[in-house]
Amino acid sequence: MATQPNSPDPRSRLIIHDLAQRNGHADFARDIRRGLTSDPKHLFPKYLYDELGSRLFEAICQVDEYYLTRAEDEILTNHADEIVASTPNCKTLIELGSGSAEKTRKIIEALIRLRGELLFVPVDISASALEESSHALLDSYSSLRIDAYAADYFQALEALPARDESPALVLFLGSNIGNFEQNEAIDFLRAIRRLLRKGDALLLGADLKKDRATLEAAYNDSLGVTRSFIVNELEHINRELDANFDLWAFGLRSVYNESLGRVEVYLESLRPQSVVIGRLDLTTDFKAGERIHIENAYKFDPEDLRKIGEQTGFQLERTWLDRRGRFSSNLFRVSE
Ligand code: TRP
Repeated sequence: MATQPNSPDPRSRLIIHDLAQRNGHADFARDIRRGLTSDPKHLFPKYLYDELGSRLFEAICQVDEYYLTRAEDEILTNHADEIVASTPNCKTLIELGSGSAEKTRKIIEALIRLRGELLFVPVDISASALEESSHALLDSYSSLRIDAYAADYFQALEALPARDESPALVLFLGSNIGNFEQNEAIDFLRAIRRLLRKGDALLLGADLKKDRATLEAAYNDSLGVTRSFIVNELEHINRELDANFDLWAFGLRSVYNESLGRVEVYLESLRPQSVVIGRLDLTTDFKAGERIHIENAYKFDPEDLRKIGEQTGFQLERTWLDRRGRFSSNLFRVSE
């Protein structure tokens, strides 16, 4: 099956490959058991993004304290034309972790202005977010075609068809790179590199190191949207695995570990408690103050990014910052 260029019917310009469905339930049960029986306990961040979770994340992007999205959007608004001009003849735009793809519109519009048509290949763990964002994009741009993958990143990188001759630009925005450990980030960028050809480019969004108060507030906003986003994973466990987490019995702790350069995000048990997870036949006990690790968000120095490129077959060609110097967008070129 192939999509139809310039068809007035948006659905004929869309294919969604749903790889996330396969074994979804068994994997979820296995991962939750593994995480809650580890010491210290942890949960898997990819399960934050169910349908409601993806919406809550969109809301995080709008709270005052979470400056990352606005800073990156400012950069893309001001520099989209330069960014796309750097990859001549680019007709394919690939985005890993596309979410609502709102920021991506700046790049899509610049590419369509330049080339007249575009194939967009978004990858996201949330099939519902992909479906919603794809329909919205196709309604906005009549010369856009979309070939979407609902999958986790590594799964998608394996499933993507080999690149044809035309140059591609890959987007990895939102400082999602900071959610990997360093060795995972390297593996991930190498996997992207293997997909690409000489001359192709990668635009990588990376949040910069800054004062503790700003960073901790970004991951624990005063409206409580981030807490809702995180406890939604407990609700997801309650629903799918017949568990009885009391969502009010966990607080959000976001701590900047300055020596490791990362914000560590935890849920903290507010009292001693036992939680029963029916489908896993598991009872898990929490001490007062005991933490469940959710995710790390590494922060970068501009120099770190150049080095990461060198280790993964990319050359850092250009870096743009927002006006206040909080966030960076980094254009890497595939080196020989
Ligand atoms: N990639 C986002 C980031 O690191 C993800 C994120 C934002 C997040 N807020 C969060 C992850 C809170 C866990 C908890 O900024």
